[in-house]
Amino acid sequence: MTIDVYWRIGMEGDHASLRTPRRYNRGNAGGYGPGNLAPAIRGGALDDYSYLDHMAAVVRASESAGFLGGLLPSFPVTDDPWAVSAALAAESTTYRFMVAFQPGFLHPVQAARMSASLQRATGGRLVYNIISGGGGPAQLWWGDKVAHDDRYARTSEFLDVLRGVWDGHPYDHDGRFYRTEGAALPPGLAGQPFPEVYFSGSSGAAVAAAGRHADYYLSWLEPFADLRAKFDGVRRHAENLGRTPKFAVRIDIVARHTEEAAWAEIEKGWAFVDREAANRAAAGDSVGAARIAGWVPETITGYRDLEVQPNVWCGFSLIRGGPAFGLVGSYEQVAQRLDELIELGVDAFILAGNPHLEEAYRVGEEVLPLLGRSRLTAPGAVSDVLSIAR
Ligand SMILES: Cc1cc2nc3c(=O)[nH]c(=O)nc-3n(C[C@H](O)[C@H](O)[C@H](O)COP(=O)(O)O)c2cc1C
Repeated sequence: MTIDVYWRIGMEGDHASLRTPRRYNRGNAGGYGPGNLAPAIRGGALDDYSYLDHMAAVVRASESAGFLGGLLPSFPVTDDPWAVSAALAAESTTYRFMVAFQPGFLHPVQAARMSASLQRATGGRLVYNIISGGGGPAQLWWGDKVAHDDRYARTSEFLDVLRGVWDGHPYDHDGRFYRTEGAALPPGLAGQPFPEVYFSGSSGAAVAAAGRHADYYLSWLEPFADLRAKFDGVRRHAENLGRTPKFAVRIDIVARHTEEAAWAEIEKGWAFVDREAANRAAAGDSVGAARIAGWVPETITGYRDLEVQPNVWCGFSLIRGGPAFGLVGSYEQVAQRLDELIELGVDAFILAGNPHLEEAYRVGEEVLPLLGRSRLTAPGAVSDVLSIAR
């Protein structure tokens, strides 16, 4: 059994750390917002070092720290992950680019051609993170008013068409959202490996679509019992369709030499609690976002209130927006919790931490080598359980 471990790329600009959130602009890692200091601006003027250069550094760090690749998220505040992957492919050797995209905003034949071109250019290093949209202002930013469950119907049809044209034989399709006549990838592009499909969403419509299409069903972290129940539901649904999905979890991590040092980091970030940012993250019709936001109580007397089980903390959304849950603890504790998730059925992780560059090295050097230790019979056989690049 191998566990694939990815690291997130902060495509929206990065915080200097969890205790100096982006909006305070203290020596942060660039991005496009006004007032960003470094590295994009020197002496008050833009220099030639762009945020793309910073993302390239994260890619190289993740690769050398042992991650299989990275997740490139897609929101109105990010770069376009397709363009960034193409631009950064030459910066890496084995690194896999997990491109997040909403099928609704691309024609599937165009997506097939872009994907096959990237597969050919990178030696098959493209992975899909299929997102169907969370509604609300972010969906309207794209002008997309398609209703929640219909977005999953569109995603499903999109993936059918994309697979239909992939092998190079003329493909006709006349569906609800898409139409093709004799579409096929040209001989030079046909025959590339089809990208692995990561698929997320907690609604009934998402679980039904995931059953048909997901290689990996992807979830944000939740309390482990809830995650287990959710995975069981997805597994049952997929098995009824004769499929066996794998499972993946996206997790923020604050890991330090001691548990006390990790909580001290959270305590410093706690000075910047921003409930508005957390509410914005939950705006829209996403069942998954509402599910995790529901864990954050209205009244909080202290940050440790939010530790819902040992080392599992649901306060991240209050500090930096985004998903609520992550792991906080010593290197050993975080590795143990990840091992427990593996026992629970997780096959892949997408880990993250602020700042993404420095934390990629830290987690790669301090946590990944401990992972799987409880499963090992022979010391030093870590690479037996991890699909890592070194
Ligand atoms: C790990 C993970 C990563 C996601 N990344 C993105 C993203 O980059 N962009 C985005 O618009 N939605 C993203 N989503 C949102 C979901 O794909 C989904 O569209 C949304 O949660 C609505 O699903 P639901 O109502 O079925 O739960 C992500 C979800 C998860 C679990």
